Amino acid sequence: MSPEISLTQTPANVRHGSNIGQPLTRREGVLKVKGQARYAADNHPVGMLHAVMAVSSIARGRVTYLDVQAAKNHPGVIEVMTPANRPPLAEDPDAKTNPFMFRLDLLQNDKVRYANQPIAVVIAKTLESATEGAALLAPHYEALPARVGLDADESFMPPAVGVGNPSEMHRGDVKAGLAAASKRIDAIYETPAQYHNAMEPHAIVVAWDGDSVSIDTPSQGLAMAQARIAGLFGIAPNKIHIRSPYLGGGFGSKGLISGPQILGILAARLVGKPVKLVLRREHMYGPVGHRAPTRQRLRIGIDGNGLLTAIDHHAKTVSSTFDDFFEPAADASHTLYASPAISTSHEAVRIDTGTPLFMRAPGEATGSIALESAIDEAAWASGMDPLDFRLKNYADVEPISGKPFSSKALRECYTQGAVRFGWSKRPLAPRQTRDDAGLLVGWGVGTATFPALMFQAEARAAIRGDGSGVMEIGAHDMGQGAWTALAQIAADGLGLEEVDFRSGTSDLPDAGIAGGSAHTATAGMAVYNAGAAVIAKLADLATGDERSPLFGAGNAGVTARNGRLFRRDDESRSESYADILGRAGLSEIDARGKGAADPAAQSAYAMHAHGAVFAEVKVDPDLGQIRVTRLVGAFAAGRVINPRMVRSQIYGGMIWGVSFALHEQAVSDHRSGRIINANLAEYHVPVNADVPSLEALMIEEHDPHVNALGIKGVGEIGVTGSAGAVANAVWHATGVRMRRFPIRIDDLVMPPS
Ligand code: MOS
Repeated sequence: MSPEISLTQTPANVRHGSNIGQPLTRREGVLKVKGQARYAADNHPVGMLHAVMAVSSIARGRVTYLDVQAAKNHPGVIEVMTPANRPPLAEDPDAKTNPFMFRLDLLQNDKVRYANQPIAVVIAKTLESATEGAALLAPHYEALPARVGLDADESFMPPAVGVGNPSEMHRGDVKAGLAAASKRIDAIYETPAQYHNAMEPHAIVVAWDGDSVSIDTPSQGLAMAQARIAGLFGIAPNKIHIRSPYLGGGFGSKGLISGPQILGILAARLVGKPVKLVLRREHMYGPVGHRAPTRQRLRIGIDGNGLLTAIDHHAKTVSSTFDDFFEPAADASHTLYASPAISTSHEAVRIDTGTPLFMRAPGEATGSIALESAIDEAAWASGMDPLDFRLKNYADVEPISGKPFSSKALRECYTQGAVRFGWSKRPLAPRQTRDDAGLLVGWGVGTATFPALMFQAEARAAIRGDGSGVMEIGAHDMGQGAWTALAQIAADGLGLEEVDFRSGTSDLPDAGIAGGSAHTATAGMAVYNAGAAVIAKLADLATGDERSPLFGAGNAGVTARNGRLFRRDDESRSESYADILGRAGLSEIDARGKGAADPAAQSAYAMHAHGAVFAEVKVDPDLGQIRVTRLVGAFAAGRVINPRMVRSQIYGGMIWGVSFALHEQAVSDHRSGRIINANLAEYHVPVNADVPSLEALMIEEHDPHVNALGIKGVGEIGVTGSAGAVANAVWHATGVRMRRFPIRIDDLVMPPS
């Protein structure tokens, strides 16, 4: 029996124990509530110094002078790291050998490529000294005019969008479809730059010991961070020990290790002491990624029966002058609606900004608010209820590829969500309903979708002589509940009620990245397969030994639960794990398992999670003030490992949708290229008062193809339908179609011409 079980294991072989599906509370919840969960910045090794970055106040040009002496003269300041004395690196931070390697600003020269770029690091005995030292550097610059916004320069077609998607795709004849249509929508939608703004800023605590380094830092991808540090510093990955037990949010911005985190490692190297570097909130608006702004043109054709004849989705976006990440916004039109002709394409301009990055539902969030608005406009133009219109144009196969879906319970999402919301009472025309206080009431619907992805992961499982079990995987709990959900899978995989579940460090097997909503599926399958592999070894020991009550049962004839193996054909014959190992004289057996996509299934099927979100808003007709009062989402995302964690993820996503439609926006000063609201007072995110009554229904869905456990992801899908539903509800309340997001009071009161 191979120690690794392949992923093509059929669902029929998967045993469903008692842990998967239970709404367990998060295992670390009490620690978090009591303030006992130790986040990266809570670590204070003996002799630790504090590092603070100085950042550029211009967006383009050169630093010509830093008053290093003034900073050094400040009490408590130990050292100032600049391009002149920054320790050498083994690799150029501007080198790029794969699409997941982003170019970093690590004080390699005096060039400034965006506002808030790190230009020096001050290391001091206290945070206050380091902060003051950084201010005393008082940089001089040679500044060039900043290029800002979607029209700053000549545009071009990016070589790829997202991480390796083609920048244009076509199916059918869009021109003919539009020409044949009896009604056409042609509208332009704009979405702003947004910043991840995780509650926990990027933070790192670093202690070097010779050429080994110990690091506490939040990470959504421990092995990738380890590999990046290894390359930059020219040391072996196993000399780099990263701990990341908890993240205070990541949303993509902690998927790859950022420049400021590497600067913390360099600072510790420079001074030969442990160093802590924590970003200030405003420092997060530049060097750690963001969601790029978009301008999207949607052209939709509809025939006399309300059927789509064509969808043409074109998105313009920005990237930095020195690296490539292009928001794949138009790709949102690939999967949702049946249309004989679909065309998606992208163009971009380079501006003086920090490089954009994936941010929760990259492409799907930006693209779907535009697509869902345009579909709503198409429904109204056809005189149809927007839900009926979506059902009429329901895609039974993936429109762009023609592939069947591995599973798709979207119809049930629409119908069950609509019943729950009370959709049937909705008047067709806008501006028909007022509440008792005279506020305009509007109802909108949006469709949610996100691909069911899997990356690569590995886990190690062991059964100890006393019959207890261990599961090890370097997985990431970024607040989504990985500690809990993966441990539930581990317990079922090992046939135990409880397991010793170890996670969150780079010394454990590589769990891949907690991104793309794929972590539970990928790491979960690795955990499950590792469990199955060690149980198979145990079964070999028992069934091959004539002293065992299981002798002769064969692997296929044994099941595992409650720490015992049972003969499948005769449950009265069983043996405990401890007895099996004891007789074999073993103190422990272990095995590894992998999680990865099955390429055959992936080429045969389109794999996506789906949902339908229904929103109610109330709008003050005089003041334009918008309140979301109700949000009901119905989602189908395959097997649910832990309904409590899943609901929490979906709620978070839905609130992000409200935020996208009504709140979030980073504003750049066109003269300086600086972001003028780089703080949580002026960069609005919903607070409790902005969050309506939320309901999330999980619709049952069995997917035999995505992976043996049937898990899709839920981390990102909640954003996608909700933003459009809110925007459409605002239209239904007011009769004013807003195409620039976030929707603002002033636009509603005085619509842009
Ligand atoms: Mo996500 S944007 O894949 O963390």
